[in-house]
Formats: sequence, C-alpha cells, structure tokens
Amino acid sequence: MRTFKPVEYHQLIAAKKAGRFLNRDEIFGFAEAVLKNRWPDYQVAALLMAFRLAGLSPSEVLWLTQAMARYSGRLAGFGSRFTADKHSSGGVGDGISLVLAPLAASLGLNVPMMSGRSLGLTGGTLDKLEAIPGFNVQLTPAAITRQVKRLGLAMFGQTKELAGVDRKLYALRDAIGAVDHAGLVTASIVSKKLIEGLDAIVFDVKFGRGAIFSSVQEARNLAGSLAGVSKKCGLRARALVTLMDEPLGRAVGNALEIQQAWEFLNPDSLMQKNDWEDVWDFRDLTLGLLHEMLLLAGVSRDRRETESYAKRSLGSGAALRKFQEMLEAQGVSPTVPRTLPGHLSRPSKKFFIRAPRNGFVSFIDARGIAMACLHLGALRRRQEDGIDHSAGIWLAKKTGDKVKKGDILAEIHATRASRQDCKIALDYALGAYRFSGRPPRRSGVIREIIR
Ligand code: URA
Repeated sequence: MRTFKPVEYHQLIAAKKAGRFLNRDEIFGFAEAVLKNRWPDYQVAALLMAFRLAGLSPSEVLWLTQAMARYSGRLAGFGSRFTADKHSSGGVGDGISLVLAPLAASLGLNVPMMSGRSLGLTGGTLDKLEAIPGFNVQLTPAAITRQVKRLGLAMFGQTKELAGVDRKLYALRDAIGAVDHAGLVTASIVSKKLIEGLDAIVFDVKFGRGAIFSSVQEARNLAGSLAGVSKKCGLRARALVTLMDEPLGRAVGNALEIQQAWEFLNPDSLMQKNDWEDVWDFRDLTLGLLHEMLLLAGVSRDRRETESYAKRSLGSGAALRKFQEMLEAQGVSPTVPRTLPGHLSRPSKKFFIRAPRNGFVSFIDARGIAMACLHLGALRRRQEDGIDHSAGIWLAKKTGDKVKKGDILAEIHATRASRQDCKIALDYALGAYRFSGRPPRRSGVIREIIR
C-alpha cells in the first residue's frame, strides 16, 4: 500500500484557517496520521472543527471518504452473490433493518450489515439485537466473512479492525459538537459502507419531528451527497428521503421492536394474516427499501414483482428462518430462536395512557414518544450510558384509529426508571397524541427517491 508523505498538523490547520481546500495527499496523510496515532487528539479535534466551520469541497469529501475507507480494513470474499446493504439516518421505531436484512438475504442477496447504537432520540439496531439473550454483535472480520458466505446475512458493530478511523473521528466529533456537517457525515457513513465490500447501497434519509433533520431540504442535501459519493466510489446507490414525523410501526423500544419484527416475519402471526395493515407505514417503507435493493441487484424489474417476492418469502417463513439462522450463528442458544418472544426481557412495570375524548387519532409526535422512551431508559443520552432493553412504548392506537374516551392509547413499559421518570414519560406519551373528529388522511412515508 502506498504511504503518503507525513503531513504536519500546523500546515493543514493553517490551510483551513486561510479557507484553502486541501489536496488529495494532504487528506490521505491526515487519515494515516489518525490511524497511526501520530497526532494528539486535541489536534485531530481542532482540524475536525476547522472542517466543520470552513466547509469541505466535493473533492475533499470524496477523498476523505476514500482515505477513511483505505485505512479501515475491508470485508471481502463473499462469493458471487450480489452484496447490498441499507443505511438509515435514524428515527423513532425504525426497526426496519431487523426485517429488511433477513428478507433481502432470503431472496438471494448477501447482506453484511454494520449497524450502530442508539444516541439521543434515535434508536440503534445493535441495542435492539442485544435485547435477544446471547446475541453477539462483536464479530471479527473473518467470522463475518464466513457467516455471510454461509447464510448471506450478518449484523454486527464496528470494531477497531473495521472502521477504526471513523470510530475515533466520530467520537471526537461527538465530543466537540462537529457531527452536524453533511460532508463529514457522508465521509463517515460511506467509508463504512466501502469497508463492507458491497455492490450496492440504499440510504434512508429521514426528516421531521423524530429525525436529525427537521427540513426536507436538509435531508435531500445529505441524500444527494451520500448517493453521489457512493457512486463515485464505485457502488450502485439510491437514497430515499422519508418522513419521520411519527413513530414507525407500533413498537418503540428494544425488546418491543424485536417482538414486532418477529411478528412481521412470522407467517402464523395475526400481523401477517392482516397483511401488515396494523403497521402499514413500517411495511411500506420496508418494501420501498427492498424494492430499491432488488432493482440495483437486477433481481426485480418493477414494484409488483418485488411485492410478490417479498410476500412469498414472508408467507413461506423463509425470511423468518433466515433471521433464526442468523441468531444461532451469532451466539443465541438453539432453543431461543423458535420461541423468541418468550425469551425477551419483560418490564417489571406497565402503565397505560388512555384517550381523553372520542374521535380519531390524528397525529402521534415522534419527538414526544422518543422523549418518553429516553426517560424510561430505552434510549441513551450519552454514548457511555447503559440501556434498559425491556423499556419502551407499545402504540395500541396509531394515527387513523378510532377511539372512545377511556380506550388504551399506549402501553408504557419500564423496569429501571424511577417513579419520577415514569411520570414524565407518561406525560410525554399522552402529550404526543392528537385527536380529530374525522379520520385523518394517510400520508405516505417515502417522499423522494434519488437515483
Ligand atoms: N452516523 C454515522 O455513522 N456517522 C455520522 O457522522 C453521523 C451519523
């Protein structure tokens, strides 16, 4: 591997302070300095803040992405199957990966999915998976490769060998308040996707009350940047811009979202028998993302074909079996995957919020539900905080549902939360519900597709 002339901190910080763009060698030199710990953290952090404030040109974003990927190891050798992944910018009740990954793998794709943890108001797939007793998210690169070759599916976290440069840069950006920059976010996310050895990637960039971005314009900018840089790095890519004003599905919280995913995948569940109508938003987004993955893979030609493949795999139990095989491969005892809901941690306390009037639920504010979950301990405020897998909220009533005064709107699950936190959570959850006299119009989740 070519090594770059060592770059001096003073030279790069002076260039950025003067508003000059860095060249390719300087950016690769910076990534190498981070990997080899040549600079103290305060110098790396200062340059990151200079990037955040002075901005990065499109070329700088591309080089930073390539440099971070170059110094971060790579998964490879999955065989001839088409390899694809999905990445979401994060939302409330966004357990889509839990069903999409096994579904796509059951249709013949390789899905090596590197996921993250919850932070602030957004949940994390790794925390959800760890609600399953025994599930191991810390896989070595060799173990990931073996598993993907055998099953077409692995879900795991980033390690020092995989994405070490991003781990360090992301932690520093988080500590100094330099996360919110589309160029830095693009380099962070796409460099990790390059490590996965993918053929294609589909992004779900959310906007609204429960997303990092409140406006569609901000989400559109990031979506364009993610898809554009991915393509320049040789991946096939799509980005969906999706609305995240209300929680997706009915479950918010780790064990609850695993339970919901299980029902979604299980051919014997009431949810499947009702054509997933109870979780129509979750279903539509799952199928929309699957469709883009299958189009990129050349497996499907139109939406009708995607839906028929998906229904066949879900209806026959093939997607559920793929999920169960992954659990066993990643450390879960063989009896658990067959009877999973019985093994999830149960809350020691359950509370209910009830409808204050007759009518229809017209809106559920994702931010209010996420704040409630934060107080229940289902999400974490800081990276080092622990998490309560049993905590969360089950939305018994969703937008569009008819209610009578006194009906249960939502079940609040808590174990470790204090009495005071439970009370705050109940207030947030009830405050998140709005009502109307007439049924509200259903608005679709997928707003734009950037191809
Ligand atoms: N998620 C990431 O992986 N990186 C970022 O910079 C932001 C969100």
